[in-house]
Amino acid sequence: MNKNTQERKQDPEEMDRIAKTLFAPVYPVLAECFLAGFGRRDGTCLDLGSGPGHLAMAVAQASAMKVYALDRSTDVQNIIGKNLCNAGLEGKVIPLAGDVREIPLPDASVDLVVSRGSVYFWDDLHAAFCETARVLRPGGMAFIGGGFGNADLRDRIVSAMAKRKPGWEDFYKANMSKETTDRFCQALSGIEGVTSNLLNDDSGVWVVMRREAPP
Ligand SMILES: C[S@@+](CC[C@H](N)C(=O)[O-])C[C@H]1O[C@@H](n2cnc3c(N)ncnc32)[C@H](O)[C@@H]1O
Repeated sequence: MNKNTQERKQDPEEMDRIAKTLFAPVYPVLAECFLAGFGRRDGTCLDLGSGPGHLAMAVAQASAMKVYALDRSTDVQNIIGKNLCNAGLEGKVIPLAGDVREIPLPDASVDLVVSRGSVYFWDDLHAAFCETARVLRPGGMAFIGGGFGNADLRDRIVSAMAKRKPGWEDFYKANMSKETTDRFCQALSGIEGVTSNLLNDDSGVWVVMRREAPP
């Protein structure tokens, strides 16, 4: 975790407010990117570091997937419960309390892992990526990283956030830097049974992991 990241405190109420306003258009766009990249819309999905659950809800709304929304923050668990109730998604999105270093799900139980904006706060990337690989079913895929879905949303949001929160632009630039992507690549080495690559385009920067399917 870089110094810049360690210094940033995350207020769950504020996270939810931003997710419901400025960031709101991002989640359906990203859900569509991940579902299209995976090529299936059924099975089980897991959102790592879901926060108030907006990406998890967007995946559930765009698919027939059952979605687990995992976050380590107990304050976030309360907010996600209210959001699911308001969206009528109780039972389709299931909140899970836990840490990405120890995902409370069985081996090979998840088809699609998604995660946006959380990886920058993980202090043991290798452990988190090993856990991601462990829970993926054969043929399963993971998209873990950060971004805003497309160039237009990115440019609008980066400019608005830079005005709104002093220091945010430095945080964003550090997250998108080569130093950070190099740390991702290093943390992926030695994980067996999966292939990984880095996707860096207008949607954001994503670690893409695939568990090999049996021949
Ligand atoms: C910036 S928020 C992003 C929330 C959400 N993914 C979104 O895009 O709206 C990061 C979230 O990651 C969670 N988080 C950070 N480290 C975590 C860890 N080690 N295990 C589980 N959740 C974690 C935080 O509690 C926070 O809710």
